[in-house]
Amino acid sequence: MKMTALATKISDGIARLELNVPGETVNTISSSVRRELESVLDDLKTDSVVRAVVLISGKQDNFIAGADIDEFVALKTRDQALGLVQDGQALVERLDTLGKPIVAAIHGACLGGGLEAVLACTYRIATEHPKTQLGLPEVRLGIIPAAGGCQRLPRLIGLRAALDIILAGRTLGAKQALRRGVVDELVHPAILEAVAFKVARRLADGWRPKRRKGGLAGQLMDRNPLGQRLVFSRARKKIRMKIRGHYPAPLAAIEAVQHGLSYGLTAGLDCEAAHFAELSVGDVSRNLVQIFFATTALKKDPGVSGDVPTAKPVENLAVIGAGFMGSAIAGVAAAKGEVDVRLRDTGLEAVARGLENAHNSIKARLARKRIAVLDQHRIRDLLSGGTDWSGFRRTDLVIEAVFEDLEVKRKVFRAVEDEVKPDCIIASNTSTIPIGRIAEVTKRPQQVVGMHFFSPVDKMPLVEVILTDRTAPWVTVSAVAFGRAMGKTTIVVRDRPGFWVNRILAPYLIESTQMLREGVPIEKLDETMAAFGFPVGPIALMDEIGLDVALKGAAVLHDAFGDRMMPMDGIGAMTERGRLGRKSGRGFYIYGRGKKKVDPAIYDIVGRAPDRAVPDDDVTLRLTYAMLNEAARALDEGVVRSARDGDIGAVLGVGFPGFRGGPFRYLDSVGSAKAVETLEELALKYGSRFQPATCLRNMAERNGQYYE
Ligand code: NAI
Repeated sequence: MKMTALATKISDGIARLELNVPGETVNTISSSVRRELESVLDDLKTDSVVRAVVLISGKQDNFIAGADIDEFVALKTRDQALGLVQDGQALVERLDTLGKPIVAAIHGACLGGGLEAVLACTYRIATEHPKTQLGLPEVRLGIIPAAGGCQRLPRLIGLRAALDIILAGRTLGAKQALRRGVVDELVHPAILEAVAFKVARRLADGWRPKRRKGGLAGQLMDRNPLGQRLVFSRARKKIRMKIRGHYPAPLAAIEAVQHGLSYGLTAGLDCEAAHFAELSVGDVSRNLVQIFFATTALKKDPGVSGDVPTAKPVENLAVIGAGFMGSAIAGVAAAKGEVDVRLRDTGLEAVARGLENAHNSIKARLARKRIAVLDQHRIRDLLSGGTDWSGFRRTDLVIEAVFEDLEVKRKVFRAVEDEVKPDCIIASNTSTIPIGRIAEVTKRPQQVVGMHFFSPVDKMPLVEVILTDRTAPWVTVSAVAFGRAMGKTTIVVRDRPGFWVNRILAPYLIESTQMLREGVPIEKLDETMAAFGFPVGPIALMDEIGLDVALKGAAVLHDAFGDRMMPMDGIGAMTERGRLGRKSGRGFYIYGRGKKKVDPAIYDIVGRAPDRAVPDDDVTLRLTYAMLNEAARALDEGVVRSARDGDIGAVLGVGFPGFRGGPFRYLDSVGSAKAVETLEELALKYGSRFQPATCLRNMAERNGQYYE
């Protein structure tokens, strides 16, 4: 018997159309599902008994996750892409022109093509449930909504609100979706179907919903041609500043929306389709899609290969050190991980400050509408603190975030051991100290692991889980699972100096200071690398990290790797004078009310005036190749488990431009032979630190690449 994705039941003139793609946890619209849906819709259209339709999902917590991404990835040519998108548009058109009202009863994710389908329905009811999320994430994959999303969303909710969603690839919770007018009504999941049927009957009897038109501002900006022109030009300007020429999708989306509003739905759909076809076979989209796949795969990766032990669930967490990092880790663990958190420090004042920081981060989450008011109180109640060991007997995982000092950390680890139960895992958030050196003083080194968070903890999406040679597999999988429960993407990393992120970041930052010493102005370095696609340039990044922190890290890497990682002389002098970067208001830049400017006094410290003009290429080649070469070496040493993990770590932890795919995809796109040649040229000009890594040379010889 053929498994079908659709089940139709007609009662009292209302057809219940249930989508439940067999063998999958979520519904996606593949070609076969599309054909089936088209045929069912044709039947419903001609069936005179049917007066209205309720479209509902048979999945537990998912409505429609989107179009089938595998079919999208398989596209080889522009024409194939055009065919695929036109098929999608035709399906949505069938919903739009059924001639009978359709009520979409939405519970769970309704994204991309799924949302575009329901936009063509007559009425949308969503459940008030955290799993219910609506959005058009296409631009995040380098494409645009092209099954009518760029047409129907602005027509439904107004131009400005629609652009806001489409251009950011934004996903809305149920309440936001109601407020924006994306859905008409919210209900409790238990009554979703009943309410949908009731509405379907009313619609069949001729009732039509009245929708708000957005008041005077809507009148002036969203529906008036002059106002629209202003909205479009503002949107273009804002996007151009943001994407710096690297991401073509948002501008294409603006054009598709504008074309449709100017020339009508059909012309708009054609414009959408043409842009989609072009973008979907371009490099930017290909790289962004690979990053999406890699992060999705990492979400399922337990962190060990072969036999996978069961992860030990963490219900009680303790964080030692209530400072900058400890308090932030505690806040995120409570808010996202929903665990009991005990925060410990040496003095009550530090504990109180730490708890306040954690509470503030929860408040910020509320302000960003990530949590509800009721959640806020529940999450706050999960947090407690003190200077003693109370609560530690219950603890499943301890994360240490005390001063960056081996002896202090060892003392803490030895003391913790006597206070916790035998199977408690002890993790360090150190950014530079080898985990093995901390573990060697403990009685249970197999339960010691690194959990390296990045600052700011609530925003940075990555955690490095660092293993020593002795870390037990069950400890690894438990730390990985907890990192993930905190909402982070987690990569497993070997205990080598700098771990992964700082290891590849250091040569890049050091090379930028080298160029500074050669007379290249700070603005030139920062602007060139931002234009290359990094979120901030290297010098500004050092100010963000903190010069004291950067200096400590650089010293460790210099000890380990010698001249290849020679930090800049002047930084020590800067930190001694209290120039610590943004946190002290002064680093390479001076920071004042939301603005920063280069401090000219820096050039005296550097010992060289900013008098050298260099082409952009000089900057990008030297800085990126310093990083690429180190990435190749580190992967070869097994610091990361795969090129995939390395790429994701670089994109999420370093800010390597996502549209370039990460260091290894970038190396593949250049070609290993060409990369070696470039490195050899750089070595001749600038010194042996650019000598190509042996593994890269070997790869070039066999014309190999990192990804098949
Ligand atoms: P911090 O100085 O803000 O906080 C350290 C806290 O530990 C202080 O509140 C101190 O009172 C407390 N402390 C010191 N000894 C203690 C002990 N024996 N028992 C209990 N509490 C003790 O430092 P921060 O920046 O939070 O760094 C903490 C750790 O996180 C360090 O290992 C650092 O390398 C690491 N890290 C820091 C990052 C950053 O951007 N600041 C990023 C990633 C990791």
